[in-house]
Parts: sequence; structure tokens; C-alpha cells
Amino acid sequence: MANRKKIAVLFSGKGSNFAHIVKHLHAQEFEVVVALTNNANAEGIEVANAASIPLEVIDAKTYESREAFDAVVVERLQAYKPDLTVLAGFMRILTPVFTEQIISINLHPSLLPRHKGLKAIEKSYEDEHSYGGVSIHYVSSELDGGEVILQKEVSKEGLNFEAYDEKVRSIEKDALVEAIRKILR
Ligand code: GAR
Repeated sequence: MANRKKIAVLFSGKGSNFAHIVKHLHAQEFEVVVALTNNANAEGIEVANAASIPLEVIDAKTYESREAFDAVVVERLQAYKPDLTVLAGFMRILTPVFTEQIISINLHPSLLPRHKGLKAIEKSYEDEHSYGGVSIHYVSSELDGGEVILQKEVSKEGLNFEAYDEKVRSIEKDALVEAIRKILR
């Protein structure tokens, strides 16, 4: 189908959310036209290769500022003309160089505005609420601060940390696919 909407996916590590997008959306409803990572050793690179998705590796260490890195990311992404860019475990703070040019969404494993930043699953598990959850939000230049698109709650009741973590990592995948459909359909 030539008229499928185009998705770009950014990841930094394992890429299990990227793999979920590929399995459930790629070459079906939508097309993942490029995958981009800042980590040359990311396990997610295998996902791109296995699905023959074009891959861009941009090593942040070789750029002198966040803005310089973001400018290269923007340039590479724009060449693929994505309708939507998805941050699926992309562990970098983005500057306005990126956020003002690219419409993107991010997956964050807490009920924002609770627990922005790193270790959100641990912090959610340890807080005073009886449930945590996941959020999908538009990316702005404020870390984990853009408009929320959808959230899903995860009850902590009866769960040790490992079981809670596993549940969050399962539910975040459904939430991400649901948000992409909501935006692009
Ligand atoms: C996911 O759990 C995602 O929610 C989290 O990183 C993990 C990436 O896993 N993202 C954040 O914490 C963003 N601040 P993956 O590489 O297997 O998809």
C-alpha cells in the first residue's frame, strides 16, 4: 500500500517497544520508514535488521552540544518524511531544535505528572498511591512534560516489584500502539 502513514521510531536499548510496533503495525496499517538510535550497541538494532527497516545510528558523543546532535537527528528523520515520530525507550533529553521541528510522542512508565525522568517504574512502585501506570504524551522541550494523549493504570495490589514491573512493561506496549492508532487513523 503506497498510502500507508509513515512512522519513525527512536530507541536507545533493548527495543522491545519498537519490536511491538513492528509486529503489530508495520507493513500493515502503517509503515515504519526509519528506526534511529543513539546507541551503536542497542539490542533494538536487531529488530530493525530483521524487519529490513532502514536504520540510522547517531552517536551523541561525537557532537559538541545537545543542539548539534538534535540537528542531525532532525535532518536524518526529515529525509524519510514521517507522519509521526515515536520515542520508544529513547533515553535522551531533546532540545527545541528537535521539538520545534518534529511532531513526536513519548512513552513514559508512570502516570505523569508523577515521576518524570529516570527510574519511573521504581519510583511509582514506592510511592503512596495504590496504582501506578503508563503515559503516552506529545514531546515538548520540557522533560516528560508535553500534553498527555493517553494513560493506563496498573494496580500494585498484591504485586511484588518484579511482577509490577512486568505488568507495566506489558501494558505500555498496548498503550503505545493504541496512541499511534489514535493519532494516525
Ligand atoms: C520502557 O519501559 C519505557 O517505558 C522506558 O524505557 C523502556 C524501554 O524499553 N522509557 C522511559 O523511561 C522514558 N523516560 P525497550 O527498549 O525494551 O522498549
